[in-house]
Amino acid sequence: MKVLISQEKIQDRITELSDSINKFILEKYPNDDIVFICVLTGSIFFFSELLRKIKIEVITDYIKISSYQGKSTSYNVKILKDISVDITDKVVFVIEDIVDTGLTLNKIISLFRERNPKDIIICTLLDKPSQRIIDVKIDFVGFEIPPEFVVGYGLDYNEKFRNKPYIYCLEEDEYAN
Ligand code: IMP
Repeated sequence: MKVLISQEKIQDRITELSDSINKFILEKYPNDDIVFICVLTGSIFFFSELLRKIKIEVITDYIKISSYQGKSTSYNVKILKDISVDITDKVVFVIEDIVDTGLTLNKIISLFRERNPKDIIICTLLDKPSQRIIDVKIDFVGFEIPPEFVVGYGLDYNEKFRNKPYIYCLEEDEYAN
């Protein structure tokens, strides 16, 4: 097992990100309704830890998307659970675990744009920019990583390995089925 990002590094970076986001909201959207949306399932840890450090009152909701099967994207992005909050005229923060091809994020942004939010801000813990198929604008990035398949800290391989507090690359023999 190769640890790519330690628990300590993740925590430190989340503190930095939350400081930047708190400042950004106060400066740019002091009087707006803010909605934080967790992209399930991979973002669960990142979302909850980031949210606890956000000092402004925010509304929260969840969207569930499926695109990956095993180690690669299926290129078929499906909405499994939509948000229920009305985002019209609100500032939406999409909280992602990882942006790879950009297809998932592109689908989420298109869906939300139709609902006329005031703005859509993207925050991802991990970014694999070299893998991009569709160009998407990301506002806040935790870490840029190489094009390796990573698990832990919410990220999975076939629903396994989410519960590790750090992010690591799987060895070949750790891929069952
Ligand atoms: P994209 O649509 O290709 O940008 O992929 C986004 C989604 O694919 C993420 O929300 C993850 O669920 C999944 N994903 C992409 N890369 C990885 C990885 O290295 N490990 C685990 N999941 C990944």
